[in-house]
Amino acid sequence: MADSPYPELKKTHTMARVGRPWTDVKPAPSAPVWNVIFGLGAYWMLVGAIEIGLFDALWDRGPLGPDELANDLESSASHVESLADALVVLGLLDRHDGRFDLNDCSRRYLCGQSPAPMADLVSVAPGPEENWTDLAATIRRGEPAKPVDADVAGFWVPLVEGTFGTVLRAATRADAWISYSHLEAPRVADLGAGGAPWSIAVLRACPGATAVVNDLPEVLEVARARLAEAGVEDRCELRPGDYHTVALEDEAFDLVALGHVCRTEGADGTRALLGRAAAALRPGGRVLVSDYFRAEDPSRSPQGVFMAATMAACTVRGTAFSYDEMSSWLRDSGLSEVRLIEPIAAQQIFVATKPASTQGRKEER
Ligand SMILES: C[S@@+](CC[C@H](N)C(=O)[O-])C[C@H]1O[C@@H](n2cnc3c(N)ncnc32)[C@H](O)[C@@H]1O
Repeated sequence: MADSPYPELKKTHTMARVGRPWTDVKPAPSAPVWNVIFGLGAYWMLVGAIEIGLFDALWDRGPLGPDELANDLESSASHVESLADALVVLGLLDRHDGRFDLNDCSRRYLCGQSPAPMADLVSVAPGPEENWTDLAATIRRGEPAKPVDADVAGFWVPLVEGTFGTVLRAATRADAWISYSHLEAPRVADLGAGGAPWSIAVLRACPGATAVVNDLPEVLEVARARLAEAGVEDRCELRPGDYHTVALEDEAFDLVALGHVCRTEGADGTRALLGRAAAALRPGGRVLVSDYFRAEDPSRSPQGVFMAATMAACTVRGTAFSYDEMSSWLRDSGLSEVRLIEPIAAQQIFVATKPASTQGRKEER
């Protein structure tokens, strides 16, 4: 009788005997390495497809064969077919009977008329390309050569334009969890507001609501335009300046939004912002901290882990905080009833309440 091809496997290579980490006698597949190599191309394929208008052409006239699609895009047919086939593999298009068409993902996110557009975000979200080609040096130095933090016109303005739709959907749906629409005439402080999606969501839901909308002056022009489009600009005060120092009245606000601002601030800056938010809240008021967070096991929070690496590549102090860090810092700021909500996929928000009295704070602990 032939021997097992792996005679030692059962005797010595079980997890019970050698524990983790362990190595099989069979060579490991190289697929993870290939996946990363192709990852660079995959990103640029998506950027290129958006740039030549491939998704919009299929929205308007699809399904299309490769020659029709190339004709529509005034591009080389063989190149368009290579690109579109790769997008099929990436799960961003379908191909049936030789013709390309949008799938549910690209129809929802990647076309100009998509209901949840993300196309504008694709080119800006990873930060400048040179921060990635310089990553090894950044890791050695502990800081990127050209951090995006101070690049208001080149980075923050296009970023907040690209994220506005997604954050507005999250902020609007958050009402189902936190019922801000039940508040009579809430006062909102929106710090680092970007295009002010949080203010717009609350002001649209509450006719009596007012907001203080803070950001750096150039970004506030984006907020001004979005607030006007939403028809709520007359209930907003634009307050330009650094959110660490801009004037904020004590105990004056029902909601303080810190929307995707903490991860660039490092631990000290974040704790300072949480302290400012707590001081600005009325008793019973709530802080809303949306961001990408990390679980202890990296494989449980890929979005947070990848965002942490992106922040390390592109910013001075950027990272992603763990769920434990954020919840304990909220409590340290005197806030209670700490909860985490996820109104739409991958958009997580910590919500915490300023107790009506110090008694409430003790009970929470
Ligand atoms: C990722 S965007 C988030 C925008 C918006 N809150 C949202 O949730 O979509 C971060 C915002 O923080 C602003 N920001 C960065 N540093 C700031 C500072 N020191 N003071 C005020 N705003 C700042 C940026 O201009 C940008 O609009």
